[in-house]
Amino acid sequence: MKTFDIAVIGGDGIGPEVTAEELKVLDAAADVYGFKLNYHQYPFGSEHYFKTGEIFPEKAFEEVKGLDAILLGAIGDPRAPVGLIEYGIIAKMRFELDLYVNLRPIKVFDERLCPLKGKKAEDIDMVYIRENTEGAYVGAHGFTHKGQPNEVATQVLVYTRAGVERAIRYAFELARTRNKKKKVTLIDKANAMRSHDLWTRTFAEVAREYPDISTDHAYVDAACMWMIKNPEWFDVAVTTNMFGDILTDLGAVLQGGLGIAASANIHPGKKALFEPIHGSAPKYAGMNTASPVAAIMAGSMMLEYLGLTEAAHAVEGTVVSLLRAGRIKGVNSGLHKCNEVGDMVATEIKAAVAGAKG
Ligand code: IPM
Ligand code: MG
Repeated sequence: MKTFDIAVIGGDGIGPEVTAEELKVLDAAADVYGFKLNYHQYPFGSEHYFKTGEIFPEKAFEEVKGLDAILLGAIGDPRAPVGLIEYGIIAKMRFELDLYVNLRPIKVFDERLCPLKGKKAEDIDMVYIRENTEGAYVGAHGFTHKGQPNEVATQVLVYTRAGVERAIRYAFELARTRNKKKKVTLIDKANAMRSHDLWTRTFAEVAREYPDISTDHAYVDAACMWMIKNPEWFDVAVTTNMFGDILTDLGAVLQGGLGIAASANIHPGKKALFEPIHGSAPKYAGMNTASPVAAIMAGSMMLEYLGLTEAAHAVEGTVVSLLRAGRIKGVNSGLHKCNEVGDMVATEIKAAVAGAKG
């Protein structure tokens, strides 16, 4: 039987509870489609840090590196110093495992969930490639004259030719395999951030190798507008780390909210980490009211990555049909018990196959 070793970091807030439902659904898929997932659970997150002072010890990190994939719940706690746990866990894995593609699909699965007037489900089906290892997230920063009226704060944007090129190239390759509009849109702010000229030039050069793919360009401010006004114009979008962070929260709302949006952090051919786009939502932690749908969708992306395509489609397809049938009422917190949604999806996956056989 195909067996995979999966690192699981539930993390903070609602992270552990939505991840538990994700694993429940993955196990149902494993049962039905005949593979096995061995979970290696790690307790890291803010709570663990408060208790032990430990963030992500190197020994555990070395172990995680050797596993087939990583599932993450959510990181973030208002009681922890800003950025400490984020950089110690999620950013650490993105940078040190060189997960340079942050793949964030934005797709409306159920029209009821889309907040835009006059748009159909098929109008919103795009994928963001967020460059995931450079930009504002890695540049040196500092303060001089801290606390004085003349204080100066700086943070450097870092883009390398190789880093920009590999993200752009991934976007063009993806546009080919998606077979939708066959279009890649570059989103930057080259008119104000002149370092983005590297993106402009690299995009033009790579595009020449893909004559079958059309190209488009939008400055990030305009992109925010077009995402709302004309989301049907987008197929694959490629952008910087920080713009990708911002635009994909906007995108998540187009598909129904942070309760449904999932993402993959990938170094192609090497390693990948899957997570819901939402945060730790501390106010809902431990209440069993958060929606696990985004985490379950992240699990489906992992199955796809592991080559378990049929199982991946079954997980996504089951969630989508439960949504469309109104059995999953929505993806906002409080509409269901968190475990009720996990149970429903797991049961349905098993029932669908039993039905087909019987
Ligand atoms: C995301 C998150 C992270 C980011 C935070 C938690 C550092 O917002 O994955 O989108 O900014 O990348
Ligand atoms: Mg974000």
